[in-house]
Amino acid sequence: MSFTEEIKRRRTFGIISHPDAGKTTLTEKLLLFGGAIQEAGAVKNNKIKKGATSDFMEIERQRGISVATSVLAFNYKNKKINILDTPGHKDFAEDTFRTLTAVDSVIVVIDVAKGVEEQTEKLVEVCRMRNIPMIVFINKLDREGKDAFDLMDEVEKKLKLRVTPLSFPIGMGYDFQGIYNLWEKNINLFSGDSRKNIEDTIAFSDINNPELDKIVGEKAAIKLREELELIEEVYPPFSREEYLEGDLQPVFFGSALNNFGVRELLDCFIEIAPSPRPKHSDTRLVEPTEQKMSGFVFKIHANMDPKHRDRLAFIKIVSGTFERNKPYAHVRLNKNLKFSSPNAFFAEKKEIVDISYPGDIVGLHDTGNFKIGDTLTEGEEMNFKGIPSFSPEHFRYINNADPMKAKQLEKGIDQLMDEGVAQLFTLEMNNRKIIGTVGALQYEVIQYRLEHEYGAKCSYENFPAHKACWIKPLDPKSEEFAEFRRIKQKFLAHDKYGQLVFLADSEFTIQMTQSKFPNVKMFFTSEME
Ligand code: G4P
Repeated sequence: MSFTEEIKRRRTFGIISHPDAGKTTLTEKLLLFGGAIQEAGAVKNNKIKKGATSDFMEIERQRGISVATSVLAFNYKNKKINILDTPGHKDFAEDTFRTLTAVDSVIVVIDVAKGVEEQTEKLVEVCRMRNIPMIVFINKLDREGKDAFDLMDEVEKKLKLRVTPLSFPIGMGYDFQGIYNLWEKNINLFSGDSRKNIEDTIAFSDINNPELDKIVGEKAAIKLREELELIEEVYPPFSREEYLEGDLQPVFFGSALNNFGVRELLDCFIEIAPSPRPKHSDTRLVEPTEQKMSGFVFKIHANMDPKHRDRLAFIKIVSGTFERNKPYAHVRLNKNLKFSSPNAFFAEKKEIVDISYPGDIVGLHDTGNFKIGDTLTEGEEMNFKGIPSFSPEHFRYINNADPMKAKQLEKGIDQLMDEGVAQLFTLEMNNRKIIGTVGALQYEVIQYRLEHEYGAKCSYENFPAHKACWIKPLDPKSEEFAEFRRIKQKFLAHDKYGQLVFLADSEFTIQMTQSKFPNVKMFFTSEME
């Protein structure tokens, strides 16, 4: 297969949802279709269960599993599909945001009874801002839920999307009979038996065919015809261009648990979802078809064996081919690195690979060279954009609880921050260290890992901040900036790249500060855009 054919057949995507909507179940069913796993239950344990907060063994176990399921690759109808795992737990939201920089499209799973939930809103917003093509899958149709039209309304309003259904349910819950597939123009009848369903598809190019009444009953047939008419009037026709631009989101209905509506989703997905897309670096737009390799680190995972500090850095290949034992330039460090055992990931195993293509994810063993966001090239000096740090929501001082282990603590903190577990801020005034996290769970993870992997002990103390604001003065020499620094000195810190950050204690303070110092610009992500 030629280089361009290899690129064209790749689909790298993520599934996002609020916890419990069915992401894990859907992932598993997709893998079953690809023949990548033999039975359901294989991905199941990948979840950080609610209430696991203080169960450290649970966290450790999860870390192990999440290495294995970070990327799930399989082949289906000659397409190479890479599913990137996105943790649904809100304390790991930042991990998910970063993973979204490496996907070319997403599938959004929504629970038909619960509708649009908080975590879905946040994640979809990130995708929308980046114009990532999205497909919506409405799940659990075997249960009573919201009316399909109401739900699509809710999706449009709350998620600010423009949707068009490509499949539509016939009944729901107790009366759920199946779905009409608008994309393939056929009907799939629900029997609750996943194997049988797949063969049960009945072609129905003409919805007025009286056969329909015989199959689903007269009442349901009439209702379906009316609904399809309404769909035609109200929703825009599907356009692949609009979908690819992020301007239109097709909707599918089904029941992941019963493996129903999943094949329809997958078959349409492989046709319409984008192959690897070009990506902006700080100097130019990089096309996947370029011969020279480029890629970036979007995730770093510590080795599960605490005695070995080596880590696995996950690289998304943007252009060219990544080859084993070939030297590549690590742009930030300005040095060449060679990798003798790059890993590729499959559903249940990882393997050393000789060559990877754009869209693929390779895992590189790392002894401390990589930080999240690093770029690898064949020598070109450029850095891929779009991997900002977001403001944390929790802030605590971190103190050394064992004076004999100061060095270990420092090293541990440094490496955990490179992994992106949390963000470190150093107060300008007295050099005290503050850890910022998205969720409270991270503090326990950090404490546990510092002790078990680095032999260091820490304690925390509250720091009264609400948000981190990255600061860029229009004129660094101005009176105004000097005044800002003087008044806010107790709350000024540097992030790990040395950028100036104002740790504001409330939204009110942010507003007041902005109006008082209009020429000192504040940004809520480290990329300052
Ligand atoms: P998540 O990864 O998005 O958090 O969700 P997950 O797939 O784990 O699904 C959450 C729960 O919803 C699970 O039940 C799962 O079995 C159920 N579920 C998923 N899809 C469907 C569906 O189409 N119909 C119905 N009725 N239920 C569905 P659980 O009881 O929390 O877990 P388990 O005890 O079954 O493992």
